[in-house]
Amino acid sequence: MAHLFEKTSFGSIQLANRIVMAPLTRMRSSQPGNVPNELMANYYAQRATAGLIISEASQVSQQGQGYPGTPGIHSPEQTEGWKLVTDAVHKAGGTIVLQLWHVGRISHRSHQPGGALPVAPSAIKPEGGTFSADWQPVAFETPRALELSEIPGLIEDFRRAASNAKDAGFDGVEVHGANGYLLDQFLQDGSNQRTDQYGGTIENRARLLLEVVDAVVGVWGSDRVGVRLSPYGTFNDMRDSDPVKLFTYVLGRLSQRGVAYAHLIEPRSSGAGGGDSVVENVPDTAELFRSAFNGALLSAGGYTADTAKHVVAAGLADAVAFGRFFISNPNLPRKIQEEAPFAPYDRSTFYGGGEKGYTDYPC
Ligand SMILES: Cc1cc2nc3c(=O)[nH]c(=O)nc-3n(C[C@H](O)[C@H](O)[C@H](O)COP(=O)(O)O)c2cc1C
Repeated sequence: MAHLFEKTSFGSIQLANRIVMAPLTRMRSSQPGNVPNELMANYYAQRATAGLIISEASQVSQQGQGYPGTPGIHSPEQTEGWKLVTDAVHKAGGTIVLQLWHVGRISHRSHQPGGALPVAPSAIKPEGGTFSADWQPVAFETPRALELSEIPGLIEDFRRAASNAKDAGFDGVEVHGANGYLLDQFLQDGSNQRTDQYGGTIENRARLLLEVVDAVVGVWGSDRVGVRLSPYGTFNDMRDSDPVKLFTYVLGRLSQRGVAYAHLIEPRSSGAGGGDSVVENVPDTAELFRSAFNGALLSAGGYTADTAKHVVAAGLADAVAFGRFFISNPNLPRKIQEEAPFAPYDRSTFYGGGEKGYTDYPC
């Protein structure tokens, strides 16, 4: 029976324990240019006792940005900035991978090159809104459907970003295929109604994700690439007519590629970035999809110390990622080991701002 403090590996990525820091957007990069900075380096270094840190989602291109202040991984300045982060984490004894992100339709013209419309698999407007480049709440608009001829450029953006992440000193990368962002928009038929080879059948809808994974694996090797998915997740207005068939197929293809890990977000915590309500009557996806993937499985979403111990001991996951509690408990592994209570988090300081609610939680 595995337990949380037993070491493990995701491909060639070594984890000193099975308590992982989930990717957490905090919108504190330096402007102009969305550049990672010393403050971010300090924040991540404080959390270096995690078995693995997954960085906040980082846009692979300007087109891939959807919120103000999120860091990128497409410019030389951003790559240099990330070196501060990887150096600080490594000096503190930690391991960190970068999450590669393109938001697709979850954006606003103010973030887009030339003030253009956000792009998506199909021109379907999601419910809800985001924040503009000057931090004003704005409703989503109907996105522009990507031309077939634009797909190779999109894949190249991911490849180049993966290569920048390597130059920046990360230990690997995670492809963000979850939470209703671009790759998830292609996967699910609620957002993908294309009639070319990237839409329609499950094989077609999964094509972009898998081509992106192949491009990124070309840079890193499959043993340092993870993929995050959110079956049954409803965040960002997502839906699919047959999630079991879709995600079983995707996980099967990822198994064949031998990626380092699959990272599944439990749908009960689908909207954790926006609120603390728990989604009821949804499947337990670690259980549902465990047998669909033959590599390391990382499970996230609404875990407590007890439920994390249980899911790993039961063999349903190899490790557990904590999000909100890593914000307010930089030393979360020690807290779990000592069975100490978790400090509460302050949601009002999740996004944007400075040290308050970021680097001032007791370590
Ligand atoms: C402030 C905040 C920011 C988040 N940013 C990201 C992100 O950048 N990438 C991502 O894949 N998930 C993101 N999520 C989702 C978390 O990684 C995680 O799946 C979710 O919080 C559920 O885990 P928890 O119950 O342990 O918090 C975010 C969640 C929160 C609360």
